[in-house]
Amino acid sequence: EVVAVIMVGGPTKGTRFRPLSFNTPKPLFPLAGQPMVHHPMSACKRIPNLAQIFLIGFYDEKEFALYVSSISNELKVPVRYLKEDKPHGSAGGLYHFRDLIMEDGPSHIFLLNCDVCCNFPLPDMLEAHTRYGGMGTMLVVKVSAESANQFGTLVSDPVTNELLHYTEKPETFVSDLINCGVYIFTPDIFTAIEDVSNDREDRVTANLRRLSGLDIFTSTRTNIPADFVRLDQDILSPLAGKKQLYTYETMDYWEQIKTPGISLKCSNLYLAQFRLTSPYLLASGDGTRRATVVGDVYVHPSAKVHPTAKMGPNVSISANVRVGPGVRLINCIILDDVELEDNAVVINSIVGWKSSLGRWSRVQADGDYNSKLGITILGESVMVEQEVVIINCIVLPNKTLNMNVQDDIIL
Ligand code: GDD
Repeated sequence: EVVAVIMVGGPTKGTRFRPLSFNTPKPLFPLAGQPMVHHPMSACKRIPNLAQIFLIGFYDEKEFALYVSSISNELKVPVRYLKEDKPHGSAGGLYHFRDLIMEDGPSHIFLLNCDVCCNFPLPDMLEAHTRYGGMGTMLVVKVSAESANQFGTLVSDPVTNELLHYTEKPETFVSDLINCGVYIFTPDIFTAIEDVSNDREDRVTANLRRLSGLDIFTSTRTNIPADFVRLDQDILSPLAGKKQLYTYETMDYWEQIKTPGISLKCSNLYLAQFRLTSPYLLASGDGTRRATVVGDVYVHPSAKVHPTAKMGPNVSISANVRVGPGVRLINCIILDDVELEDNAVVINSIVGWKSSLGRWSRVQADGDYNSKLGITILGESVMVEQEVVIINCIVLPNKTLNMNVQDDIIL
């Protein structure tokens, strides 16, 4: 038996995702019309003998309750949300729930970060992991040398694929091969985490003894609580080069989803994936009295799109959206309950829940996913009045825009 664990983090972790994370937990933000966490979960469905999926985080349980029950039904796999009372770190969170995770004696545990976008080659990882015979195998990918230091960087043996060296977010260039945040472990991972935690407790006790001897110079490392364990620094780094960890390289797409701009890019990557794996999810433009569709477009069944509108490529439209006559949409995400009035145009943008765009208004951007204002983002309930043009802006919730704005953050 195999179980999968998805680390979803919590409210304090999603700050870079503002203004889209004010009311919706980041893991539930829709990419290609499905919550972010849906994509790794549906990939888990392809694992042979998958018994259960756990989501571990410190969001309120009720924020996930509805979603968890609907996805359990859809995937026909039991899914449980496990809430931490406080953040325990990426390995500490896993360890905290070890009894529940190990309940049915699984032979392997998949561990996935929820904020990565890729095609999750999980069955291939399982097969490679069994061949290597170590404690864990992690998915790795080559990125540009300039961006590598934002991630965990590593060196692996070109012949055996053993992880030889690992540094989390190094200051100087180490390697362009990085950790994708997708792992498979044997249950021995719990012993490895326990060792780190015990080691810390010992140091805390030693420190308290020193403190009582009036030595106030405590090491900063001992200030970390014993039950807070980071997978990267505390487990991967020390275990590299000890024939316990191995790597599996993907040649396919991979992105980390930390900013709203990148979420638009990832939404498009998943639309392209649907084109290959589940084309029935995508809108088709053929047939009379239907809107024109170009390339990959997702339209929620409850959305109402006027037949004279034109959408695509790379458009996702969520529930209860109304797209009026003559509207033009290119490379954008339109969230629930948005109203787009006649001849409105949206290009390279994300339009927040319950927002409205007046007649002949334009919301657009240059389309550079990596620059701060390269994608225009309207927060929840933003009203753009008719004929107003918004270019390269981030607009916080509940604003009414009645004048043209460019290159600005509207607070
Ligand atoms: N439940 C829970 N509790 N989840 C957590 C906690 C915690 O205390 N801390 C982090 N997470 C979750 C995050 O939501 C995310 O999905 C994952 O664990 C990793 O988050 P971070 O530890 O903040 O690391 P990161 O995202 O900056 O970098 C990690 O992922 C990169 C790939 O995206 C590292 O492992 C890098 O090496 C790696 O390249």
